[in-house]
Amino acid sequence: MIEIPGYVVQGRLGAGGFGTVYRAERAKDAQVCAIKVQTETRSSLGLRLFANEIATVSHLSHPNIVSFIEVITHDHKTHLVMEYCDGGDLRGLLDDYLEAGIVLTSTSLRQGMFEEDVQSIFLQVLLGLHHCHGHLKQGSIIVHRDIKPENVLLTSGGLVKLADFGLSVTLKEQKSHAISIEIQAGHPYGPAADIFSLGCLLYEMCTFDIPAVYANDPGNITIESSIPTEFSQGMQDITGHLLNPKVGAIGINSAGFK
Ligand SMILES: Nc1ncnc2c1ncn2[C@@H]1O[C@H](COP(=O)(O)OP(=O)(O)O)[C@@H](O)[C@H]1O
Ligand SMILES: [Mg+2]
Repeated sequence: MIEIPGYVVQGRLGAGGFGTVYRAERAKDAQVCAIKVQTETRSSLGLRLFANEIATVSHLSHPNIVSFIEVITHDHKTHLVMEYCDGGDLRGLLDDYLEAGIVLTSTSLRQGMFEEDVQSIFLQVLLGLHHCHGHLKQGSIIVHRDIKPENVLLTSGGLVKLADFGLSVTLKEQKSHAISIEIQAGHPYGPAADIFSLGCLLYEMCTFDIPAVYANDPGNITIESSIPTEFSQGMQDITGHLLNPKVGAIGINSAGFK
């Protein structure tokens, strides 16, 4: 197990494209934390993404965004210490549902998480995202650009927190509160990319699948957005709205298509 000064590393929580995350206890007060260690790489892209994540997370403070604790440099490597989420990530919860088999409701068999869970998770991700998109300190907003189940963390107390800001981008707002042309145009780097990914996230929680995208020609994109009829009308409407190509942009995010 790796050694990090001031912490007792207890195990590995997960890994993604650019980092490995460990669970560790802080020696001075026994606080359990999560520490992201950059994957051994000589790639300048990896270094840049990690620096970007640290700069972004250290400026964000919201109950639905994973909290920054500190940065440690050890052995010429940078480690990001953040709050620990003890419920794993949304991908793990979706896998648990799938392992348990088709969910039986009182009226019929259906696939998809319980609406109560979907609503709670969706609302909390939305609040975290709203904070980023409305984070207008010094005239800028943050676009996450990598909203997906692996980057949505859960706690046993029912809290949901947005994580992994490596691919995020900070967009400057123009003078006199005018929204930049880039954002207005729904450029894939703008907040519309997150809105579309949020729609994909919602669709996956309701169907255990990703929405099919049909692009017959560039001007004619349609996205499958119907969810099981057991879900409330409100839920159907929100999914349809978020996955409407005129609302969310199909960005460079990693929401899957088929
Ligand atoms: N604060 C945390 N608490 C608990 N688990 C975490 C935490 N941060 C990350 N993880 C786990 O580690 C995985 C990878 O972390 P992430 O920050 O997404 O790294 P990457 O940039 O490599 O995708 C996540 O999908 C999640 O399972
Ligand atoms: Mg990730």
